[in-house]
Amino acid sequence: MIAVIGSGLVGRGWAVVFARAGCSVRLWDTQPDQADKAVRGIAGELDGLAELGLAGEDPPSEVLGRIAVASTLEAALDGAAHVQECTPEVLATKQAVFAQLDAAADRDTVLASSTSGIRASLFSESLTGRSRCLVAHPLNPPHLIPLVELVPAPWTDPAVVERTRVLMEGVGQATVTLKKEVPGFVVNRLQGALLHEAFRLVEDGVADVADVDAAVESGLGLRWSFMGPFETIDLNAPGGIADYVARYGQLYLDLARDGGPPRPWEAELARSLETDRRKHLPASRLDERAQWRDRRLALLVAHKLRHAPDHDT
Ligand SMILES: NC(=O)c1ccc[n+]([C@@H]2O[C@H](COP(=O)([O-])OP(=O)(O)OC[C@H]3O[C@@H](n4cnc5c(N)ncnc54)[C@H](O)[C@@H]3O)[C@@H](O)[C@H]2O)c1
Repeated sequence: MIAVIGSGLVGRGWAVVFARAGCSVRLWDTQPDQADKAVRGIAGELDGLAELGLAGEDPPSEVLGRIAVASTLEAALDGAAHVQECTPEVLATKQAVFAQLDAAADRDTVLASSTSGIRASLFSESLTGRSRCLVAHPLNPPHLIPLVELVPAPWTDPAVVERTRVLMEGVGQATVTLKKEVPGFVVNRLQGALLHEAFRLVEDGVADVADVDAAVESGLGLRWSFMGPFETIDLNAPGGIADYVARYGQLYLDLARDGGPPRPWEAELARSLETDRRKHLPASRLDERAQWRDRRLALLVAHKLRHAPDHDT
């Protein structure tokens, strides 16, 4: 049994991940009706996922039947082997919630946070059960983007990390396990580096917002949906990665130096980006476009599953 604590965007996605893999899930949220709303949202989404083979092997009604709303935190935790915490990204909230979880959950229950960037050491240090706490950071939405980053605090028991890795891979997620905690983990450090450069290119008048987006959408992103940066450069020089470094290392060093120190994202720049984006997508259509994105993601994931590397060669 899995307890999902917080049933917003991410908690709802986790419920699908675990339930479609056959696990019973209990959802708990402090906001009245929020967990029921999440279950209604899942119910509306499962048929579409099933059509693409993304709702597991059982009929959607069975998958949905595995997700229950708990009436209290204690009821959610009762008998849970794993807790996936999905409350707001506020350090004080994480500290308070983890103190509650550590006090109420069985001693061998793993307590995992979905936090996007708060290190587990910051919310688990003073807990009796701190060795069972770690970060299991998904991307949004977790049921469509399979990656989860596992980030232990210095005191997390390696057996807890391993148990979480086995659970996550067992329910179909791909894992990246960090050897030590750093702010932002791996995913948001990579994303942050790209975003800083994107902001800089627009701020310096090199390219407009649509062209920067196109460089990723029609260019870099195509490869990145099935291989990472190291494999990319390994294939982009005839002699492999060492050859790539010999040919292009100086170019990238010069580019990194040219970029200079990090710049804050100033309010004026944010306003001009907002104005530009709203011309392409009015605020009233943001939700509709997010649904469109999720559908595209589902199609891409279904395509990748049909053409898994083992099937291609
Ligand atoms: N949205 C993303 O893109 C994304 C991606 C990866 C990770 N995350 C992380 O996942 C976590 C949740 O993000 P989200 O986008 O789902 O937020 P959200 O605001 O959509 O949902 C948070 C939910 O937690 C509930 N909540 C608040 N306090 C609670 C408590 N004490 N106990 C139980 N429930 C409580 C709220 O009522 C709300 O329903 C954050 O740490 C966030 O950084 C978010």
